[in-house]
Amino acid sequence: MTMQNSGDSLTPEVLTGMVTQSFAGTPDDRLRKVISSLVRHLHGFVRDIEPTLVEWQEGIDFLTAVGQKCDAVRQEFVLLSDVLGISMLVETINDLDAPGATDSTVLGPFHMTESPVRRLGESIDMLGSGIPLLVTGSVRAVTGAPIPYATVDVWQCNEDGFYDVQQPDLQPAGNGRGLFTADSQGRFWFFTVTPSHYPIPTDGPVGKLLSATSRHPFRPGHIHMIAQADGFRELTTHIFVPDSPYLDSDAVFAVKKSLVGEFARATEDESARFEVEIESPVARVELVLSPESEAHPATGLGAVDR
Ligand code: BEZ
Ligand code: FE
Repeated sequence: MTMQNSGDSLTPEVLTGMVTQSFAGTPDDRLRKVISSLVRHLHGFVRDIEPTLVEWQEGIDFLTAVGQKCDAVRQEFVLLSDVLGISMLVETINDLDAPGATDSTVLGPFHMTESPVRRLGESIDMLGSGIPLLVTGSVRAVTGAPIPYATVDVWQCNEDGFYDVQQPDLQPAGNGRGLFTADSQGRFWFFTVTPSHYPIPTDGPVGKLLSATSRHPFRPGHIHMIAQADGFRELTTHIFVPDSPYLDSDAVFAVKKSLVGEFARATEDESARFEVEIESPVARVELVLSPESEAHPATGLGAVDR
């Protein structure tokens, strides 16, 4: 029998149809929708670029390297999702059903340790370096009502662009981090230093991707925050430093105009209330939470036994 390319009926389109059909019996509606869309789009991508077998192997090798770079404190797949704008796409889609709430943005990989519980007015800068920045804020509902005793988890890099976990020999654990509980009127305040812009980790396959595509790895300076209160949707967001470099070219596409902070000078009232000098730097923040909503039940695929 001669084996030759017969040009028979197994066209790319027929193959895509067969694979889609193979998942048609998936009992869970959401999983069936997700997997059939995934097959459709992945097959469309492959048909579009028509990879050689060598290129396909390179793609497999790249994704393998991404997986192998992951451990308990490094999540290279999240980083890949971040630089491809997928993390931000997911955030932006989910913000659509939270009208009136503060915009969310990416969590990032540095929220891996628990923030130390701190009292209102405490400083998260444990080294006392840099110029102190007062951050004052309030947590409220979309109705305008303050949310008493909401928690606000804060983390940031230092004035040189490093998180505590990146410099365990230079920074004490918990430097640049704090878990605050707002007062009875939803207000919170703490001291810090203005965080610098910094590069995302580039010592893995994602760094290789950035350099092969002539992209820079920098993020503009920002303070991360997660606000939480019973009955409200958890908000993960940033306050961006208003005059930071890279505000218009964040490596992970996480800047939203509404999140560029209001960094000002302390007024007489603020000076008296927070015991700071008039005209000293102050960042004012408002975190608006939307009511909790019904989430899609998870498909269960993420819960893999290890
Ligand atoms: C961060 O802001 O901590 C971050 C976000 C995405 C990728 C890398 C770092
Ligand atoms: Fe960050």
